[in-house]
Parts: sequence; structure tokens; C-alpha cells
Amino acid sequence: MNAAITATARYLPKRVLSNFDLEKMVDTSDEWIRARTGIETRRLVSKGQASADMATEVAKILMERSNTKSDEIDLIIIATVTPDTMFPSTAARVQHSIAAKNCWGFDLSGACTGFLYALESGARFVESGDYKKVLVIGTDTMSSIIDYTDRNTCVLFGDGAGGVLLEPTESNNGVLDALLRIDGSGGDALIMPGGGSLHPPSVDTVNKKMHYVRQDGKTVFKFAVKGMADISSDILSKNNFTGEDIKLFIPHQANKRIIDAAAKRCKIPNERVLINIDKYGNTTAATIPIGLDEAVEDGTLQDGDIVLTASFGAGFTWGSMLIRWGK
Ligand code: UT7
Repeated sequence: MNAAITATARYLPKRVLSNFDLEKMVDTSDEWIRARTGIETRRLVSKGQASADMATEVAKILMERSNTKSDEIDLIIIATVTPDTMFPSTAARVQHSIAAKNCWGFDLSGACTGFLYALESGARFVESGDYKKVLVIGTDTMSSIIDYTDRNTCVLFGDGAGGVLLEPTESNNGVLDALLRIDGSGGDALIMPGGGSLHPPSVDTVNKKMHYVRQDGKTVFKFAVKGMADISSDILSKNNFTGEDIKLFIPHQANKRIIDAAAKRCKIPNERVLINIDKYGNTTAATIPIGLDEAVEDGTLQDGDIVLTASFGAGFTWGSMLIRWGK
């Protein structure tokens, strides 16, 4: 029994924040941002809108596209580092919004690798034979934890959500393999230090801006280039594939230079690498499912095509997955 992706969906909030807008907010330039990251615009939620709202939109599209009724859903897995509240979970909020009466669900914290962690988890539930319809959604409202006076981070991130419906299949399509890793020794290089049980929110944590993302960009960049390139090439060799077998590489969208390095290492030509960082920036757990949905929409993927995905993020977390497209 394999777990096949039977529907894809994305939601991007309407509000656009361009590099030119950011030029008016911090000491940066469109030229610097484009050259160093590949980003031109990013989307931001409107006031009152949060991660569960975006995930709910994704869940509704997934149900519509697959003709699924909400009471048929068995499990909702949400990858996010920006839940609406510490608890209840985003999964509980989505369940309530779509009135899915016969399921359970949970949030999963894997930062930028969150969607791959969630997809592997969802696939294993389906492969067990006990779960028929599993929603796997990555949703992040990065604007809620970004300091818009810090040019090191505010130019990088955007808000968005994307997801898939997983269902069992007797075919050889679906999630083929996953290589996933975690290494907490890199934790301090990309962190939101305040607001958890170690540094509960207080006037002091707010004054010290501990509720915002802090990143040592250079260190993360170095590990991300190696981590993503190594794991992508490892999963290809493990499955006896080469870059030529890959119809589409859908990498996490954190920096165009990191993506280019991973693609080069795997010998995947540019035209088979999905890039949308220019439009949306880094939407953390949402980048890969947003990219997948765009590729499905524009007809890039046909039955039997092999898709490679890869990601690297806070933790450090990183990983790579192979999917054979089709139901
Ligand atoms: O998805 C989660 C994982 N995250 C990542 O993968 C992000 C990895 N890191 C990166 O993508 C890059 O390191 C950044 C895009 C964050 C930074 O690019 P960089 O080429 O590594 O720049 P840098 O940090 O070495 O900074 C170079 C210069 C510095 O100035 P000085 O010290 O040389 O005078 C920075 O202060 O650029 C400056 N700088 C900026 N200048 C204009 C940093 N941010 C900006 C900015 N605009 N927004």
C-alpha cells in the first residue's frame, strides 16, 4: 500500500510587501535583496488573519478538488512554527472550521522542514492501512514573529499555506522515500528565543525583542547549502536515480543561491527546478506544498513523473523526499 497525493492546494494572502516597500522601512535595497536572496515580493496576512485561517482555506480547496466530505477525513497534520495559539493546536482550529467530525489531528514543529516531516508522517499513517484520508498542511504566518526593523530577517520571510490530501493507492505512485534529519547543535543560529517555557513572555522578553526571529544568516547559509545538497544527492543514489530522472525539483525557498547549489550538485537543469521565492519569499513550512500546487496547476506533472523535494531549516532540521506523481 502506497500513500498517493490525490489533491494539492495553496493559499497566499492578498497583501503584497515589495522590496521597494522594505526600502522605506529599513536600510536595504531592491538590488541587495534580489542579488542575495532572489526575493522580489512576499505576501502578508491582513489584520486578524492567522495560520489556521490560511490552513482552513487550503483544507477547503483540498476537499473540493477531491470530492471529499469533511466527515470522511481521518487525520489532520499541520506543520507550523506560528500556530494561532500555543494551544489549542492549529489542527484543532482547522478541524472545527471545516467541521471534520471523525478525525484527530496534531501540529508538528519542524520549521522549514516541517512539511516534509508532516508528509512522511502522513504517508506512514496511510501505509498502515488504517487511514484513508489524511490532510497534510504547512502554514506559517512569519509576519507575526518578524521584527520589521531588523533588515537581517524582515526581507526574507512571507506568509502562506499549502497542503495535500494523502490517500492509499494500489499503484506504485505516491511517496517513494524520505531521508529526514535533525541536529539541535545548530539551534541558536535560527531561533525565536522568547515566549516558550524557557523564557515565558514578560515585559523583559518583549523589551529584548525575544519574541522575534533571530538568525545568524551566514552560519545557516553554510549548513543549508551543504545539508540540502548532500541529502538530495543521497536520496537519489539510495533509490538508483540520477538528476536526469527528476521531472521536477521542488526545493524549500529560503534563498535562490541555496537552491542553485543543491540543483547543481544533483545535476538537475534550471528548467526543472521550481522557483517561486521571487513572489512569496520564505513561507517556512508552506514553500514546498505551494510550489507543488503551482506545478500541478500549470500541468508540469504527469503520471509517473518523479519529483524530488528538499528542505533545510531551524533546528537544524533538513531532509529530502521522492514522490512518483499520480494516484
Ligand atoms: O529557511 C530557513 C533557513 N534560512 C536560510 O536558509 C537563510 C540562510 N541565509 C541566507 O540566506 C543569507 O545568509 C542571507 C540572505 C540571510 C544574508 O546573505 P549573505 O550574503 O550571507 O549576507 P551577510 O549576512 O554576509 O551580510 C553581508 C552584508 C552585511 O554587511 P557588512 O557587515 O558586510 O557591512 C550585512 O549587514 O549585508 C548586510 N545586510 C544587508 N544589507 C542590505 C544584511 N541584510 C541586509 C539587507 N539589506 N536586508
